[in-house]
Amino acid sequence: MVNLQSNFTLAMLDKLQELISEVQAFSANSKEKVEAFRIKFLGSKGILKDLFTEFKNVEPSQKKEFGQTLNTLKTLAETKVSELNNHLENSTQSKKVYGDLTRPGEPIELGTRHPISIVKNQIIDVFSRIGFTISEGPEIEDDWHNFTALNLPEYHPARDMQDTFFVEKNPDMLLRTHTSSVQIRYMENNKPPIRTISPGRVFRNEDISARSHCIFHQVEGLYIDTDVSFADLKQTLIYFTKEMFGKSKIRLRPSYFPFTEPSAEVDIYWGLKTETDYRITKGTGWLEIMGCGMVDPNVLKNTNIDPEKYSGFAFGMGIERIAMLLYQIPDIRMLFENDVRFLEQFKSVI
Ligand code: PHE
Repeated sequence: MVNLQSNFTLAMLDKLQELISEVQAFSANSKEKVEAFRIKFLGSKGILKDLFTEFKNVEPSQKKEFGQTLNTLKTLAETKVSELNNHLENSTQSKKVYGDLTRPGEPIELGTRHPISIVKNQIIDVFSRIGFTISEGPEIEDDWHNFTALNLPEYHPARDMQDTFFVEKNPDMLLRTHTSSVQIRYMENNKPPIRTISPGRVFRNEDISARSHCIFHQVEGLYIDTDVSFADLKQTLIYFTKEMFGKSKIRLRPSYFPFTEPSAEVDIYWGLKTETDYRITKGTGWLEIMGCGMVDPNVLKNTNIDPEKYSGFAFGMGIERIAMLLYQIPDIRMLFENDVRFLEQFKSVI
């Protein structure tokens, strides 16, 4: 019959030997590390405390050996702590006087940009190259800039497309639901030709899930000049998808936005090479990446731009969605949790 009791004691003795080696090998260059070591071994919930509790389970004939080894471990740990502390004390004192000028510098840990910033910068870069400026505006908006000027008068049913966080009633103040509001501000303050993109944070009163969040980021674009046509919009989109994803096959599906007419949803042909491609495109190979359209003449009128003389196009995309595609991030919430294990993976990307 196997003697469980003595097996247990043998295992414990092995464990003690291992701990002794660990203590002997330990070294530290800061008081914090020594203190962490002390708590780990000698603290009131430390390893030694546990081992002394185990002592009662040790077979009587082995109690002596176990006890002695345990005491050795304890003395070693105590001596280690006081030795290291003394050493650190002395070396900080002598450092104060002389310092060691030949000592190599401490390496500086490289930080990482957040993936949303990385993707935002890439998008900005692509559009800057063809002359788009960057415009920004407030996150707390009035009704006019977020809705009414965009051809979404009060009680218009399309307001339901974007559930809104209201901050104040009468006059209505709200958290902007898209950065189209920035484009209205830009049109009010600038004369055509206009070429601008508006990156920024937007808010929608939606349930949080793997696919959607109540806070996210957008880049919206606006182009207004004489004789701007849908063909210009399409070419701009093809240029963008080629630069951003290395893919230029797109399709435009008719859609509806109150501020554009005609409106379209932009799909990119992602391909069906891998299992992931099948999963993210639901087996179709196509992925929706943004909305777009020709600026509705009413929107131009609302911002004092003559629709007889000028026309334009606009588009808008979610940065999270693009980041999730580019980096195959399965859950949008990972972009908001700031878990360093996730963020550190973007170290190599500028
Ligand atoms: N503002 C739209 C949204 O947030 C996107 C869009 C912008 C669509 C411009 C068309 C033109 O959903």
